Amino acid sequence: APSDPGLVERARAARERLGEKAFVLGHHYQRDEVIQFADVTGDSFKLAQQAAARPEAEYIVFCGVHFMAESADILTSDAQAVVLPDLAAGCSMADMATAEQVAECWDVLTEAGVADVTVPVSYMNSSADIKAFTGRHGGTICTSSNARRALDWAFAQRAGGSGKVLFLPDQHLGRNTAIRDLGLAPGDCVVYNPHRPNGGLTAEQLRAAKMILWRGHCSVHGRFSLDSVDEVRARIPGVNVLVHPECKHEVVAAADQVGSTEHIIRALDAAPAGSKWAVGTELNLVRRLAKQHPDKEIVFLDRTVCFCSTMNRIDLPHLVWALESLADGKVVNRIEVDKETEHFAKLALERMLALP
Ligand code: 13P
Ligand code: SF4
Repeated sequence: APSDPGLVERARAARERLGEKAFVLGHHYQRDEVIQFADVTGDSFKLAQQAAARPEAEYIVFCGVHFMAESADILTSDAQAVVLPDLAAGCSMADMATAEQVAECWDVLTEAGVADVTVPVSYMNSSADIKAFTGRHGGTICTSSNARRALDWAFAQRAGGSGKVLFLPDQHLGRNTAIRDLGLAPGDCVVYNPHRPNGGLTAEQLRAAKMILWRGHCSVHGRFSLDSVDEVRARIPGVNVLVHPECKHEVVAAADQVGSTEHIIRALDAAPAGSKWAVGTELNLVRRLAKQHPDKEIVFLDRTVCFCSTMNRIDLPHLVWALESLADGKVVNRIEVDKETEHFAKLALERMLALP
């Protein structure tokens, strides 16, 4: 639905009152009504870089989800306030790995005698606690646009190919990157289930594995299936299937192209007029791309899959409230990571930002 003109006007007025004091970041999965007020849009990697590159902004208004705002707080100075317009904008994938569960997993790896040769690699889509665990144990963060470089880096930390990676929390991104980009065999990967004793794995299985994948997934991308791909290929002859690496391995294997949201945007920008695309990522982005490219046929990979409900929590009323409060000098919904967590999480994030 088109945005309420009264709210658009209020957002514009508050934005103007704030001027350079505020910087508004918008993830590609945000609603159009919110994206129109973003000073910069991006995938999670670009937004982390952009947050770190704005030391002059007093307020960073993060239109995205909680883990992204936490990362922005970690990468900005104490004097800057990171604001999440709706505190209920979490991420179900990030919630699938808690600090207690991950500490227990490390104990299991220690018992099996493999912790010493294991480097944690954590997807950006994780809480600050998990990022701090990663930093403490010599690991790095990655996003969907640099997962390959992060894994190359992690395996290079242990000489002679003796190393292992604990990848959390998205098993699909971990498996897809290991198999597609690093050429590992499916059998090199095991899945650690935090809800089962010892992760559901024996010490032998842990010793034999190269990739230990946390049993987490994205509730949006995890719903695309091989049937979605088969159905769209039958319905639209000549269609190119383009999916995000948070999709299941069988979906990624059946697709024509795979990449982060920034990759998807670039691929469609570069596509010739008349080409046909079925895109497997969040619906707000796919709809926006279809609108921006009327000369190409762009459809959503599976009509039964929906928006990311937590990304959608940030709507125009919440953004207006946040901007007006800030313009009145009142900081609302500030996301602040405690000092110790921040210290170790920053180590891990900086390792990512320094990846070649
Ligand atoms: P990217 O922004 O890295 O493509 O990740 C997608 C996502 O699911 C963010 O929540
Ligand atoms: Fe989390 Fe998936 Fe939503 Fe991204 S799209 S915020 S990974 S649930």
